[in-house]
Amino acid sequence: SFPPLNLPFRHNFLCGQIYPPLIDGNEIHRTSNYDLRDDDVILVTYPKSGTLWVQQILKCLYEKNGVCKDSRISSRNNLPQAVPWIELLDIEEFNAMTSPRVMTTHETYNNIAWRPGTGAKYIYLSRNPRDVAVSYYHHISGYRAYEYDEALPQFVELFTKGKLPYGSWFAHTLDYIENLNNMNIFYLDYESLHLNFEKIVMKLNRFLGLRHLSNEDLESIKERCSFTRMKVDSNANMSRFEHRRKPNSADFLRKGHVGDWENHLTKEECSSLDRVLDSYFSKTTKKFIYNL
Ligand code: A3P
Repeated sequence: SFPPLNLPFRHNFLCGQIYPPLIDGNEIHRTSNYDLRDDDVILVTYPKSGTLWVQQILKCLYEKNGVCKDSRISSRNNLPQAVPWIELLDIEEFNAMTSPRVMTTHETYNNIAWRPGTGAKYIYLSRNPRDVAVSYYHHISGYRAYEYDEALPQFVELFTKGKLPYGSWFAHTLDYIENLNNMNIFYLDYESLHLNFEKIVMKLNRFLGLRHLSNEDLESIKERCSFTRMKVDSNANMSRFEHRRKPNSADFLRKGHVGDWENHLTKEECSSLDRVLDSYFSKTTKKFIYNL
């Protein structure tokens, strides 16, 4: 079970950083000291990597599978309820969830409950840092709770320094990439999902040990998970949090493109992101996709 929190809520949630969380009122347990079950499935992402998209894919896969009708992934319609953030569950809710518990977290590698030998499965979704920075800027400027009124250049500076909720994108991504071989983990990236949706979804389905998908299944999943469909699906478009947004802010499903950074970032901003990227990733072979 969770130990009691020994740090103030905001500090816990935000790694001591400066912005209040999007979702208020709930207990947030920033600790890796919770018990996993062998059939837990945990989607891990840095914010704005396409979390909602993969949550929707997971929901479709479990529904097609036809079993697990009592678990939240099948019984709840709204994505944040169906594939809940671990950080937003209280202890009782977490322990009472019917298996398989399919959950989400933005936590860093050091803050998840992974332990050697666990059967729990992880999915890590990454996205290129330029598009994440632009998407995160729109997100943070869109919700009143963050009280962020500065422009994109200032935000890019915060991004390069990792002074944002969930800390540095660079450290977050590198930590997981370096530990892929240690964990029972399925790695995918946002750009490849654009390029090879069916192939990745089939592989993910196998990783989860779910029933074989027919071509019709795949077609219907592709349709349900398309940007245009999700944008008008009130269970998948976060519109229930609309009242928390500033007037005229971008939708949660904003553009859904690879390469939107080109419309927003200057050459200098790209270079400064590249420099930080190099300093973290130079010892790896990882390459990020910036355009399709
Ligand atoms: P943009 O702001 O670039 O449009 P998260 O869910 O992790 O917060 O990520 C949100 C980003 O994923 C947004 O990016 C959003 O538009 C994009 N996204 C969500 N659903 C998508 C889909 N079905 N297809 C493509 N992109 C999607």
